[in-house]
Amino acid sequence: MVSAAIGLAFLPLLLTLLIRYRYYFVLFYRAVLLRWVQDLVTGISREERVYQYVLTHAIPGDPDSILDTFDDWCTKVEFISHIGPKKGMILDRLLKEHQPLTVLELGTHCGYSAVRIARSLPLGARLYSVEMDQRNAEVAEKIVRLAGFDDDTVELIVRPSDEVIPCLRENYGVERLDFVFMDHWKRCYLPDLQMLEGSGLLGEGSVILADNVIFPGAPNFLRHIRRSGLYEHRVHRAMLEYISGIRDGMAELIYRGAK
Ligand SMILES: C[S@@+](CC[C@H](N)C(=O)[O-])C[C@H]1O[C@@H](n2cnc3c(N)ncnc32)[C@H](O)[C@@H]1O
Repeated sequence: MVSAAIGLAFLPLLLTLLIRYRYYFVLFYRAVLLRWVQDLVTGISREERVYQYVLTHAIPGDPDSILDTFDDWCTKVEFISHIGPKKGMILDRLLKEHQPLTVLELGTHCGYSAVRIARSLPLGARLYSVEMDQRNAEVAEKIVRLAGFDDDTVELIVRPSDEVIPCLRENYGVERLDFVFMDHWKRCYLPDLQMLEGSGLLGEGSVILADNVIFPGAPNFLRHIRRSGLYEHRVHRAMLEYISGIRDGMAELIYRGAK
């Protein structure tokens, strides 16, 4: 009797929490629970599932069709944290504006943003896309080639970012990075940015775009860019990809040059 009364007293609090955080519950359901069930039922990874969907629904050699098909799957079937169509448009615009010749992407996953970047590059430009997970990289390789981009346009590097950045010059002949897209684990943003600063690969006007700086968030990274004085910067506010109601943002930095 007493415990029922205590339970009832907590009900309003529970309901308030449920309503307030409903979008996060939806995200947890779509990104974690549904994925777990589908892994069990299908016996293949989520990345393989989306690849098979893209393979059977998109037009090979047509990057737009491949991206639309990804967006379809991620909206209607399962959640994957690609940059998505809305934040993707900010990425597209910056690429068109800056016309970078050498681009570095940290965090390829299935290759969605790699295809997005590659389709906006000027002739002769090259994207180095870094992914540390071998199985994700295998899917990304198939997606990027399905979209029609060869090894000269998109080179996939399967290693952790902190091992790749120091050897970009020596192993890949990179002299300057015109554009860096950061979309890997958020805890790597700050150490990798500092490694890039020390590498001498950033030049005056180099652009760095970092996704998810609001959710899940990268507070140390944002503090560094504000305090270092090395960048002109702004945060583009946006909603989290494929889910309504969760605020996110992308940080755009323009390197001012070494002090
Ligand atoms: C959010 S996903 C990338 C999504 C992709 N950029 C897109 O929009 O299509 C993050 C990916 O970064 C990879 N990753 C995380 N930390 C990394 C690191 N330090 N080096 C390389 N890859 C990393 C993960 O394995 C994962 O596949």
